[in-house]
Formats: sequence, C-alpha cells, structure tokens
Amino acid sequence: MCGIVGYVGDKQSAPLLIEGLEKLAYRGYDSAGVAVIENGKLRIDKAKGHLEVLSERIDGGAAIQSNVGIGHTRWATHGRPSDENSHPHRSGSGRFAVVHNGIIENYVQLKAELIDKGVEFCSETDTEVIAHLLEELYDGELLSTVAKVIGRLQGSYALGILCEEHPDEIVAIRSSSPLIVGLSDAGNFIASDIPAILSHTRKIYHLENDELVLLKGDGVSIYTLELEPVLKKVEEVTWDVAAAEKGGYAHFMIKEIIEQPRALQDTISPRVDDNGEIVLDGITLTAQQLKNIKKIYIVACGSAYHVGVVGKYVLEKLTRIPTEADLASEFRYRSPLVDESTLCIIISQSGETADTLAALREAKERGARVLSIVNVVGSSIANESDDVLYTWAGPEIAVATTKAYSTQLVMLDLIALYIAKRLGRITKEEMRGLLSSIIKLPGRVEAIIESYDDRLRELAEKFKDYEHAYFLGRNVDYAVALEASLKLKEISYIHSEAYAAGELKHGTISLIEENTLVVALAGCHRLFAKTLSNIKEVKARGAYVLAVTTEDNTAIEQEADDVLYIPCTKELLMPSLEVVPMQLLGYYIALARGCDIDKPRNLAKSVTVE
Ligand code: G6P
Repeated sequence: MCGIVGYVGDKQSAPLLIEGLEKLAYRGYDSAGVAVIENGKLRIDKAKGHLEVLSERIDGGAAIQSNVGIGHTRWATHGRPSDENSHPHRSGSGRFAVVHNGIIENYVQLKAELIDKGVEFCSETDTEVIAHLLEELYDGELLSTVAKVIGRLQGSYALGILCEEHPDEIVAIRSSSPLIVGLSDAGNFIASDIPAILSHTRKIYHLENDELVLLKGDGVSIYTLELEPVLKKVEEVTWDVAAAEKGGYAHFMIKEIIEQPRALQDTISPRVDDNGEIVLDGITLTAQQLKNIKKIYIVACGSAYHVGVVGKYVLEKLTRIPTEADLASEFRYRSPLVDESTLCIIISQSGETADTLAALREAKERGARVLSIVNVVGSSIANESDDVLYTWAGPEIAVATTKAYSTQLVMLDLIALYIAKRLGRITKEEMRGLLSSIIKLPGRVEAIIESYDDRLRELAEKFKDYEHAYFLGRNVDYAVALEASLKLKEISYIHSEAYAAGELKHGTISLIEENTLVVALAGCHRLFAKTLSNIKEVKARGAYVLAVTTEDNTAIEQEADDVLYIPCTKELLMPSLEVVPMQLLGYYIALARGCDIDKPRNLAKSVTVE
C-alpha cells in the first residue's frame, strides 16, 4: 500500500522524509517522491523504482534546504509505475503538491470536467485530479480550499498537501485510509503508518474520517470540514519498531486477514455505480464479442486456482457458458482446446507467476481473448492481457494469501454478473439481490473476524497436535475446502486434504479413524442435508468434526463436535464468508505450533520459475 510522511519544523525536512519513507518500504512500493518548499518555491523530486534512486538523486535529502515537506511511496493502482505517475502530484500553476493514499472513485468524471476547462494532465493517476481541484477552488486559504476539494471527492483518501503560498504549513485529511499526526518539540509530522515517525516521537493523534489537520512547526490544529475546531487527546505509542511495521500485529498474515473488509470495499465500490450497474473499467469486450464466447477457462496457480474453482460454479450458474478451472502448469502443456470463441480468465496476485504467464501466452497464441484479474499494476500478466481488472487489495506480504484471494473471488462474482447481464441471462431481481449481497460482504466479513477471533484461538489449541485433517464440502463449499485445506497445510505443516464430500465413500473414508480431524463446510443450503449425512458417516468412524454452516442450520449441533456459524448470504457468495474463519483457523493453529507464519518453509510468495 502507498505510504505517506510529512514534516514541518526546525529540522531539515528532506532527510526526515527519506528516513520516514524507508520505514514504510515494508508495505511494498514501486516509486517514491518528495515535495518541499525551498527558498519559497515548491520543489518536487520523484522517481520510479527503489527508494535509493530518489535518495541518491537528492543526496539522502542533504541536497535540499527546507523545513517543510511531504513524501510518498507509491504502490501503483491507477496507472503503471513510472516517474510521471509517482507522487507528489502538482497543480497546473505548480503551487500545490499533493500525496494521496486510497482511491478516488469519481476521478473519471472529475478529470473530464477539468479537461473541459482546459486543465492539462501529466499522469494517469486518480490523484492528479486533487492537485488540479486545489488550484481550481483556491480561495487564498489552504484549509478552506482543501475542505471545498473534499466536498468533490468520492472514495478513500489520506492526503498531505503543500502550497507555495503557505510555506510553513501542511494540510492533511483522511477518509477510510489511515493517517496519524506525530507531535514533537522539534516539529510535527503526518504519516500513514506509525513506523515512519517512531524514531522521532511516540506522541500521536489518531485521526477520524474527515478531520482536517493544519500542521505547523509549533503546533497542530484540527478542524471539522465546517472548520470548527476539534479537541483531540494525545496518545502514546508503546509498540516497538518491528511490531509497528505490522501495525501492532504479530504477523502480516493476521494483519492482512483483518484488512479484508477494506480490501473488499475498495475492490467492490468503484465497480458498482449509484444506479446499481456494474462498471468494469478494465473490460473492452464488446457485447458481440461476449455473445461469441462458447467456453470460459479460468487458469491460475495455488490459491488463485482455488478462486477459479469457485468461479466455475458462479460463472456457469449465472452465464450458462461452460466453464473450466485449470491449473496453469497443466493447461500450458496439454494443447488446450482454446480458440477465438474462448474467454480465458487469468488470475494472479503478483502478475508474475511463471506458469500462469506461460498459460496466458499459450491461450493468446491459440486465439483466446484474455481477461486477467491481477493485484499488481504494471505486472507482466497485466501487461500481456487483452483486458485487466485489478483487485485493490494493496500489497500482500505474508506468503499465504488471504486478502488477495478474497478480492479475486469478489472480482469473479462481478465479472459473472457483468457477463450474465450483457447476455440477458439474469433477471433484474436476481441481479439486484446478488449485488446487494455483494455490497454487504465487507461488513459481514468484518463481523466474522470480530466474532470468531477468540473462538478460533481456542479451537486452535484443541487441534494443534493433530497430524491429519480432511476438509469436506459440496459445490462451492468444496471449492472453499480446497483453499481452507491449503491454508492449514502451508503454514502449520499439518497434513491436510480437501475432498468433495460426495467422493468420501470412494476411498477417503478408509482414512477416517478415531480422532481424525474433519472440517465440514456446509454453507450450501440446497445441499445441507447431504453434507449432514457425510458428517454422520465420518462421526460414526470416530472423526472429530468441526462444522461451518449458516446461522439457521442449528440441526448440525447434534452431529458436529464444534460449529462455527456464519451469516446467511446467497449460495454463490458463501465462499467469501466461509473462507474467513478457515484463514483464522490455519493462522491460529500455525501460531499454536510455533511456525514461521509469514514465511513458511520451502515456500515463496511469488513463484517466478517453473
Ligand atoms: C504462491 C503463493 C500463493 C499464490 C500462488 C499464485 O504459491 O504462496 O498464495 O496463490 O503463488 O500466485 P499469484 O501471484 O499468481 O496469485
């Protein structure tokens, strides 16, 4: 995720900004920049690539004379990584500079409006509209101008703003993107994350949404958007530096699990407009091209492939187009039956997985249209696809994916609805129902995390010494079982397998004996009774059963040893909810076994070799 740091005070600002940005590097970034006011003039230095590139260019900051500045590490969302797309962004006159974390959802409309007025844009970013709006709405006062600009923005943002005409001030504000204020005797800071300023101060303000901050060297004032003063309590940070990088969490994995509601929200909300229509910005497929599609392949590796398995159920149900989920490493070597009438959906968090990239090339060579779902902007898979839809999950650092998986899943749901609508294969009511359930997913995921965190810690203690685990489910529950089983085995090293529950009797049941752990996913309403029978079968052979089902299926308590209830939603969307307790289960079991959770043995985050 992008990082922000800002400073105004007695010290030289540029070295402090570089130091702060280095502390934010763990979040992942592809470019960096700083803006300062030097001798009364706004100066911006920014560069694509490693922070060292920028740092060398300005001699670690020593080449700049300034006591006020803002800095940014960018992790590309709108527009590829490049010098031009790096922050800070400047207004046309050059007097305003802005750094931004988050996504401006209405930037397309704002940009068109500004272009109509003759404004020229230098970047592909959503952020640049903010710089031009500041210029457009400038009334001589920085604070009131920023308040007016905020009135035009939709989406999420943390902003740091500099203006040449106010050389001793920084204005900052946040909404749904984190931003804190750091207070010290030698000056004051803003930062998107505590590590950026922890070596200078432990005194901070946590900002609420839409609190406007006026930062000066000798004081910080906070206002509402109506410019009424806000009184805030200074808080003392007690974290050590290592903990601070993980936002106070013990591991990136748990931090990323907890970030899922935000990641889902960021992925969903720009894709659903006020009229309840799905807007897929990255799709250029025409209605005619969609009509010509006879087959869909979803191709990926690892957890991304598991998303594809869910996708098969969702796409076939909604679009009625035959759909296959395939492992990239298999697909690429088996002369797949792919031609111009095939849509190939490639899924990849990193956009660099070697087999997935090779499968993409294979599909293209055979004439397929390639639509990719990718998390890293400007990655090879994104570059080589015909159409790209980005999951706005932010950088994922833990090897075991969580928030990337969840956002890929919801992206596939949106694609399925989009195609079904264009082909006239879904009624208005069905569409409305599914979309309204999709919009509720972030809140429901948040509720599950809150209600199950402690419970799963306890269950993990109970299960930590098991040697084998079996995950069962039918239809979409089976697809989730695949991911739940992988989550457990990859980080806890417990042997674990997933089976379609109906396949039990064809072999696997011979492995069930006294105290084998069976996790039964029974979220699928239509098939609840069938899965319940499978639970009875394994119970009769001595298994210990943990069941996951919806709140109304209390009958399961008579059969299962432990039950995790999740909220009801549409059957096709159940995976988005069911997977969350399974991620927590894997995490807490691995924690109880003392495993290296973020970097499990023998595994890599991005598998760029075959
Ligand atoms: C590795 C990661 C998985 C990921 C898979 C595919 O195995 O540990 O979490 O699902 O690669 O990676 P991709 O970047 O293509 O999604």
